[in-house]
Amino acid sequence: MNDTSVGITKAVVPVAGLGTRFLPATKATPKEMLPVVDKPAIQYVVEEAASAGMSDILMVTGRNKRPLEDHFDRNYELEATLHAKGDGDRLARVCASSELGDIHYVRQGDPRGLGHAVLCAAPHVGNEPFAVLLGDDLIDPRDPLLSRMAEVRARFGGSVVALMEVDPGQIHLYGCAAIEATGDGDVVRITDLVEKPDPGTAPSNYAVIGRYVLDPEIFDVLRRTEPGRGGEIQLTDALQALAVATPQPDGTTGGPVHGVVFKGRRYDTGDRADFLRATVRLAWEREDLGPEFREWLREFVAQDALTSVVQDALTPVAQDALTPVA
Ligand code: UTP
Repeated sequence: MNDTSVGITKAVVPVAGLGTRFLPATKATPKEMLPVVDKPAIQYVVEEAASAGMSDILMVTGRNKRPLEDHFDRNYELEATLHAKGDGDRLARVCASSELGDIHYVRQGDPRGLGHAVLCAAPHVGNEPFAVLLGDDLIDPRDPLLSRMAEVRARFGGSVVALMEVDPGQIHLYGCAAIEATGDGDVVRITDLVEKPDPGTAPSNYAVIGRYVLDPEIFDVLRRTEPGRGGEIQLTDALQALAVATPQPDGTTGGPVHGVVFKGRRYDTGDRADFLRATVRLAWEREDLGPEFREWLREFVAQDALTSVVQDALTPVAQDALTPVA
């Protein structure tokens, strides 16, 4: 059994997916580099890991990895130009992304699934608990989740996933957890996990979202995990094996698996509609851009509402006008 009291310092961020839902934008650019207001989505994720004390970040990359690496690296030419202009504000913003921690990269060859991407991190992570943050899942910085998950791991051992209650009609899009209460408000024990359950078969409305704190035992399980849904090696399937594992003679199981039920703001920036929601909401709340943007958006919505009212009122008249006179 690993020492569960140790702080978690390593975070793995898989960014090797194909991003097909966002084509053609993601044909030559990783979806994680799409800007949410004025920062690429991935920067919010790395900032979240850094603010939870995870200073060692491993990105599991695939094709088109260069923009990601460049974004988290220094850009001396740009820095020198901004410095010469005395533009300290922009200089600070340019430097921020290269000062978030030690960022490492490993390549996933073929995108054989999230489970396979996590397995690519095994040599770097070694035998210690670690966090996984999906690079396209944006958790609002005001709703901390990762540090709570690390606390739950420290208390119960094993692995911890983030759960969110979703509309029953949406659960087939997620990994879904069967749960039982622990007596601790936001913490549940996971008794079963199913990746993207067929409609009507989901054991609950609790969806697994893109934050995990994992026991290193997961690597052994992933090595044995066969391709599942979509022909991909699914992290959910490996976690399911840990959740239902029988204790071994030495007392270890790799489990248990707990869930932290998250009620904060979260956006799947790989989904176009959610990406737009994230952009609008974060822009709306920004001190610098917010006032002007809010004014424009209010006018836009009011104008749209007015247009609909006028169209509705005119429809019978227009229909009459079109009716041929007998
Ligand atoms: P998604 O399920 O969003 O898949 O992956 P995707 O391929 O990136 O996007 P779509 O569905 O085609 O639009 C969830 C996370 O797992 C990573 C992705 O980068 C994303 O952060 N991933 C997925 C990998 O790193 N490797 C894989 O083989 C699959």
